[in-house]
Parts: sequence; C-alpha cells; structure tokens
Amino acid sequence: MFRLGAGPGIIDALRETRPDIVFNVAEGEGGRCREAHVPALLEMLGIPYVGSDPLTLCVTLDKPVAKRLVASEGYPTPRFRSCSSPREVAEAGLSYPVIVKPAFEGSSKGVRLSSRASSPEEARERVGFVTATYGQSALVEEFVPGSEVTVGIVGNGTPRIVGVMEIAPRKVRAEEFVYSLEVKRDWENQVEYRCPPALPAGVVAEIERCAAGIYRLLGCRDFSRIDFRLDGRMVPHFLECNPLPGLSPGYGDLPIMAEKMGTPYLGLLSEILSCALSRLGMAPR
Ligand SMILES: Nc1ncnc2c1ncn2[C@@H]1O[C@H](COP(=O)(O)OP(=O)(O)O)[C@@H](O)[C@H]1O
Ligand SMILES: [Mg+2]
Repeated sequence: MFRLGAGPGIIDALRETRPDIVFNVAEGEGGRCREAHVPALLEMLGIPYVGSDPLTLCVTLDKPVAKRLVASEGYPTPRFRSCSSPREVAEAGLSYPVIVKPAFEGSSKGVRLSSRASSPEEARERVGFVTATYGQSALVEEFVPGSEVTVGIVGNGTPRIVGVMEIAPRKVRAEEFVYSLEVKRDWENQVEYRCPPALPAGVVAEIERCAAGIYRLLGCRDFSRIDFRLDGRMVPHFLECNPLPGLSPGYGDLPIMAEKMGTPYLGLLSEILSCALSRLGMAPR
C-alpha cells in the first residue's frame, strides 16, 4: 500500500507503479469537474478504483445540477436559484430566510453563519461575496429550519445505511443553525452528534428511503454521505450528496457515525474496499 499524492505528478506515478486498485480520495483542484480528474485518468489507464465515477462526482459537486436531478424524481429539495450576480436575487422569487452558498464547493467552504440571509438586501450582499471570493455562481436556496441529518451509505445494489446522524446545535436554536466551517472546527463545543437520531421512527424511515433512492439516482458507488434538513412538518429536504465524504478518523461525519453505530474505523474502510472489490469482480474467493 502506498500514497500516490495529488496534482499532475500522479500521472507519472500511476504509470510507474501500476497499482492493482486505487482508493480514491482526491478532491482535485479548480472548477466543478475537479473531483472527476483522478477517476477519469484511472479509467483512461484501465486502473480499477474505489468510489464513484467521474459523472457522479461532477453531478454531485455542482449542487444545482444535483438538486434538479433529485427534484425530477420527486424527492423534496429546497427551492433555489443560481445567481451569477447580485442583481439576479430580485428575480428569484424565493421565500426568506435563504442561505447563499457557492454552487460547487464542499466541506462548508464559503458557508458561514452569515450565509443565512433574512432579506433580499442581505442575500444580494452574500451573492456578491460568493461570486467575488470563489469565482463561481452562488446557490441561493430557501432555508429549511428543522433538524439537520446526514446519512452514511456503503455498498452497491442494495446499499447499507451505515447510520443516520442528527447534528444538533448546542449553542443556537435549530432555525438559526448552520453547520458552517466555524462550527465544524469546534464541533465538540458547538454540536451534539446523535446517532441514532432522536427523531420518530417514521421520520427516520423516510430519511433512509430518500437517502437510498438518491444514492441510486445519482449513481453513487461503494460509499457516500447525503445531507438533509427537515422542514416544519419533519419532511426531509435534500441539501447535497458527497460521494467523497471526509474520512478523517474522529473528524469526518461518516467515520464518526460508523463508530457510533458499532463499526470501528478500519472496519468501515475495509467494508468500503470489499464493496468495491466485489463490484469490480476482484473479491478474493
Ligand atoms: N437550504 C438550507 N437550509 C438550511 N440549512 C442549510 C441549507 N443549505 C445548507 N445549509 C447549512 O449549511 C451547511 C453546509 O451546506 P451544504 O449544502 O451541506 O454544503 P457543504 O458542501 O459545504 O457541506 C449544511 O450542513 C446546513 O447546516
Ligand atoms: Mg454538506
């Protein structure tokens, strides 16, 4: 086992080392197709790899594209508008508050407490910030005020729900909560991770149904994490799908929920790898 590193140097490294399989965690750099760079290269070189393919990685990184697909199959997702300039906020016809986030970033990049806007004036200001800072359109989305949950999924065919984890704020009310970078970095003080969640069984079942359906719909392979927020009637609304979820032990939401559900860190990684090997017809007999 060895690390391939990142960036263009990986092209030579792959040709020289010809790995049997790559456990892809590369997020890439630059643009909405960045997460597809390494898997596309691996496909070109005929090297098998763990995780989703380039199309799924592109479609999920571009949140408006993912939301359109998810909505087309009837799964609820907050109403939204992609704005390339603050002027477009006026035409959006959305209900307030809204949240304004970069259209294709992850790990709460560009998502702060101040991303929640209560008026068109505030939203315009945030759109200006996102477009100027990140050089991309801003996704302006109606704010869903209820509990936040994230769902970990592993497998193919009939994938396994690893856990449904509620991210409950300790310091603010749910309707003001944003799982921002500031919160994530200070998670021990800011949030309580509830896994299993403190939600009615019927609500959890509906969250799991949506998560499994969206996983299949977006073509996820081997593992992913899908984020939702509940509205006032406890209906889950799709926020985004992460086919390359953070895997840092003790920090990434997927390892944290697996641990809470009785799957230790290495058990999680080996389950993901086993699923990939089976999918590729490489599983040991
Ligand atoms: N429409 C929304 N309603 C309420 N909260 C939201 C909404 N969109 C995002 N958030 C908050 O912002 C956080 C980050 O947004 P998300 O779309 O998951 O982006 P990231 O890729 O950065 O994780 C979410 O975990 C949630 O707390
Ligand atoms: Mg998220």
